[in-house]
Amino acid sequence: MSRQFEKLEVCYKYYQSVTDFVPKVGLILGSGLGGYAKNMKVEKEIPYGDIPGFPVSTVQGHDGKFLFGYIGNVPAVVMKGRVHYYEGYSMEDVVLPTRLMKRMGIEILFLTNAAGGINRSFHVGDFMMITDQISSFAPSPLIGENVFELGERFPDMTHIYDEELMDLIGKTAREENISLQKGVYLQTTGPNFESPAEIRMYSVLGADAVGMSTACEAIAARHAGVRVCGISCISNMASGISDEELSHLDVQSVADQRAGEFERLVTKSIEKM
Ligand code: HPA
Repeated sequence: MSRQFEKLEVCYKYYQSVTDFVPKVGLILGSGLGGYAKNMKVEKEIPYGDIPGFPVSTVQGHDGKFLFGYIGNVPAVVMKGRVHYYEGYSMEDVVLPTRLMKRMGIEILFLTNAAGGINRSFHVGDFMMITDQISSFAPSPLIGENVFELGERFPDMTHIYDEELMDLIGKTAREENISLQKGVYLQTTGPNFESPAEIRMYSVLGADAVGMSTACEAIAARHAGVRVCGISCISNMASGISDEELSHLDVQSVADQRAGEFERLVTKSIEKM
């Protein structure tokens, strides 16, 4: 058994010792979605700090716990708060929660985040369904000994974001009258925001939005055979796209303002999964 799988199993055993809830969908909440619990029937909470060896976030606005319950009739596990690579955790630790949710039983991972808009047709406050990603500027979470218990050494990444789930989210947005952009998400390591020259480069490379999470979680989930979908809230236009200086507080404040509609889109989509 690989060292990383042993660590995962310790977390999984703890989970089994406190609940027998089996989720179908995992939802990772990004900035602004911290109040999501009101959209679900919560049956059980597990603070990250209670789970042996589990990485705990240090970022303001990212306090951490798992919520287990029903979104509509769909059994779900929701991550209130995630850890980021820039906090100093290894990529293996950053994706440990994703892998743990797979061990709990999830078949679908729903990723959310706040991101900077690179595509000039986007506006602050827009939602962008993630159709593909660029993770080449952060280390792969699969570097190191392969966890064969989860997946193969060289997993295919041709269809990271699931076509059927994208159709379902697109249809839900239309039904709910929520406008939805589509695009490619690029993950940087952070924690600094980008320079205008970097954003020009990312634009040339085909990125529509930039953020400091998500792509690594999507890779770990696909490695383990979990279907993936994701939505970004465009909390700001990226560096140099607008003249405004960037701040985490502004990111949070826009994400907070858009939380109601974001929650509705996520909830209505998951109810159909
Ligand atoms: N850059 C990187 N990450 C982000 C941004 C950004 O502009 N906005 C929100 N997260």
